Amino acid sequence: MSGSDQDPQSENNADVVQMHVERLSQEVLELYRQVNLFYRLGDVFGPGLAPDEICRLLIKESAKVVRARSAQVVLDDGFKVGSVPSQPASRLKVGIETLEGRLGEIILYDKKAGFFTAADEKLIRAVAQQAGVALENSRRIHGLVRQNQALERLNAELRAIDQMKSDFVSNVSHELRTPLSSIKGFASTIMQDSEMPLDVAQEFVGIINEESDKLIIIINDLLDVSKMLSGHLKYNLGVQPLEQIVEKVVTLLGIQAEAKGLALGFDLIDIARVNVDATRISQVFTNLIANAVKFTDTGTIRVQQWVAENRVHISVADTGIGIREDVLAHIFDKFYRVENVVHTKEGTGLGLALVRGIVDYHGGSVDVRSTEGEGSVFTVQFPLAQ
Ligand SMILES: Nc1ncnc2c1ncn2[C@@H]1O[C@H](COP(=O)(O)OP(=O)(O)OP(=O)(O)O)[C@@H](O)[C@H]1O
Ligand SMILES: [Mg+2]
Repeated sequence: MSGSDQDPQSENNADVVQMHVERLSQEVLELYRQVNLFYRLGDVFGPGLAPDEICRLLIKESAKVVRARSAQVVLDDGFKVGSVPSQPASRLKVGIETLEGRLGEIILYDKKAGFFTAADEKLIRAVAQQAGVALENSRRIHGLVRQNQALERLNAELRAIDQMKSDFVSNVSHELRTPLSSIKGFASTIMQDSEMPLDVAQEFVGIINEESDKLIIIINDLLDVSKMLSGHLKYNLGVQPLEQIVEKVVTLLGIQAEAKGLALGFDLIDIARVNVDATRISQVFTNLIANAVKFTDTGTIRVQQWVAENRVHISVADTGIGIREDVLAHIFDKFYRVENVVHTKEGTGLGLALVRGIVDYHGGSVDVRSTEGEGSVFTVQFPLAQ
């Protein structure tokens, strides 16, 4: 039987069968691509990838599945990777979705019109889904790592604070014990010696009085710092000439400086009216000048006051031991004292913390320049009174 003699009905049936077979093989092929894809993607988007790596892999894997010319991934947090051609004729946009929401999208481009099929979209959706899971895991892991780092930092800070507190307690105990022992010693000597000459007894009582003053200063500093930290330090503001406050402190501490053979002088370059609490500002200069006297063995201490750009500047310069560069940033912290330098000097490490707190309150600032072995300059500045 020749082809032309074929029954038209059976010819028609053969066409239908062939069509079915073709469609079926198409579907099997599609299924095969999908299964194959799933197997591969499981390995591709392994754990430990960074988000940008995942996005690059998403582009690479999508290109393997659909041979589009270019692709771009845009995440909702603003991250972008890939390229956009100048005049694409087709575009396939697929969201990167996870159970918890959308993370961004991948867009594939091609120059040929109608390039992308529904089957392509299905496959890209599968790739994007895998990438989405990987991205979510990566974000979780990065979040945990960041949390962990923050906890470690906090832990280190807490340990440092703890150390500072222990140092402070031993320091304050030492500072309190010294004058207390002296008071106790002189008081019991007076008590035991009923025939002590009056002038000797008076000298001893004088020492007891001085040592009590030291105790009062330490206790007051402690109370002030604690009030300052809780925001309860009271200030009585009033407009007044700053030079009068500074002058008084210089005169008072001149006695201590002289006792150490140090020349303490005040250069008043410009007078200045400021709106301040005189007692607190005295405390600032008392701390700064007392530090200069304490940490200087020979040379001079110069206090200067001048006005520039609507602010008054007061510097306290000494020719003392100076401060190491690496600890300069810490000296204004409460309880901080430079190790190995101060164990022979009195102090609790509260002075400069109070200085900064009081100066800040008045809208001013304090800074320091220092060279180890040569000396230090502390400069305070305040706004002038309106
Ligand atoms: N002029 C200075 N020269 C050298 N070191 C200084 C000077 N001023 C401050 N320091 C360093 O900064 C530290 C902190 O100073 P701060 O005034 O806060 O504490 P302190 O003087 O030790 O104690 P306190 O002031 O409470 O009696 C000092 O212990 C010292 O190490
Ligand atoms: Mg001090």
